[in-house]
Amino acid sequence: MRAVIMNTFGSPDVLHESEVPDAPAPGPGQVTVRIEAVSVNPVDNQVRSGSKGDELTVPLPMILGWDLSGRVEATGPGADRFAVGDPVVGMSAQAGTGLGTWAERVTIGEDLLAPAPHSLGLREAAALPLAALSVYQPFARLPLPPGGTILVTGGVGALGGYALQLARLRGWHAAALVRAKDTDLARELGAQEVHTSVEEARRAGGYDVVFETAGIPDAIKAVKDGGRLVTVVPTVVPPAERGITPEISFVEQDGRALEALVGLVDSKDLTVRVGTVHPFARAAEAVRAFENGGIRGKVLLVPTAHDGTADRP
Ligand SMILES: NC(=O)c1ccc[n+]([C@@H]2O[C@H](COP(=O)([O-])OP(=O)(O)OC[C@H]3O[C@@H](n4cnc5c(N)ncnc54)[C@H](OP(=O)(O)O)[C@@H]3O)[C@@H](O)[C@H]2O)c1
Repeated sequence: MRAVIMNTFGSPDVLHESEVPDAPAPGPGQVTVRIEAVSVNPVDNQVRSGSKGDELTVPLPMILGWDLSGRVEATGPGADRFAVGDPVVGMSAQAGTGLGTWAERVTIGEDLLAPAPHSLGLREAAALPLAALSVYQPFARLPLPPGGTILVTGGVGALGGYALQLARLRGWHAAALVRAKDTDLARELGAQEVHTSVEEARRAGGYDVVFETAGIPDAIKAVKDGGRLVTVVPTVVPPAERGITPEISFVEQDGRALEALVGLVDSKDLTVRVGTVHPFARAAEAVRAFENGGIRGKVLLVPTAHDGTADRP
């Protein structure tokens, strides 16, 4: 089968499409998924560049990728959640398990999958899993009642966009910290207040919670005394202050939570945003553009069509 592989760590140029051994037959509790699309996440850049260092135990050559959408092609013994042909979405914690999704087929535990949304193209659905789970899981743990206030930094990013929408669904008052050019988009995503600097957000009043997705440690200044800073960026965690001890959240594989998110997409409570779509053959170019920032909506990769484009024949 074809996959996007890397033989060494480095810049996006180390990524190339290549022939690799086919995905194994599904074992107990596993299914094989024929991939429709995968998405690019910052963690893929961290793994590829080698910045995860000793944390990473996955050997080279490596197939990157956490998100997937596709159709079940085969089921293993005892795997009865899905039938052959079912459209699914899923997330594999590649950096921990070594199971990367940027391939034509992936054999994966059925517990990591959910039925794909009915209301969305199967390709677009690949933009949902990792980013939405990374918000859904810490929000489910937050003891913030309806009416509580939350500031989302990076409010128009992949996580930020889901965070603004999920915060509103929980009845929280949602504010966003974004770049000046993104203020309208932040409001479209549900922000009731929009700020373009930490100082401006701090002056607007202390928030019960700051959800930090932009890598701005100073955002702790916008938390009220004794409030909470929940960050998904473990490389830039500020020291504790004023009774606020930063909490780091790491996304976990979880097909059932993903199913809940799919339900929100189908009830039109959660919008999925796709930025650009590229064939596996142009993965290096796509990832380079993603790494440069500024793309609004997820960057997707799809198996290369016979004519070298992103479109299937
Ligand atoms: N811990 C976990 O489990 C976990 C899970 C998922 C993601 N993450 C981390 O979460 C972070 C966000 O991921 P993502 O997929 O949402 O990335 P993303 O789509 O690139 O979103 C980040 C957003 O922050 C914005 N931003 C960056 N610096 C800013 C600043 N100074 N002021 C205002 N906005 C700023 C970016 O704008 P520009 O594009 O214009 O720069 C972008 O809109 C990444 O660091 C990722 O590694 C962690």
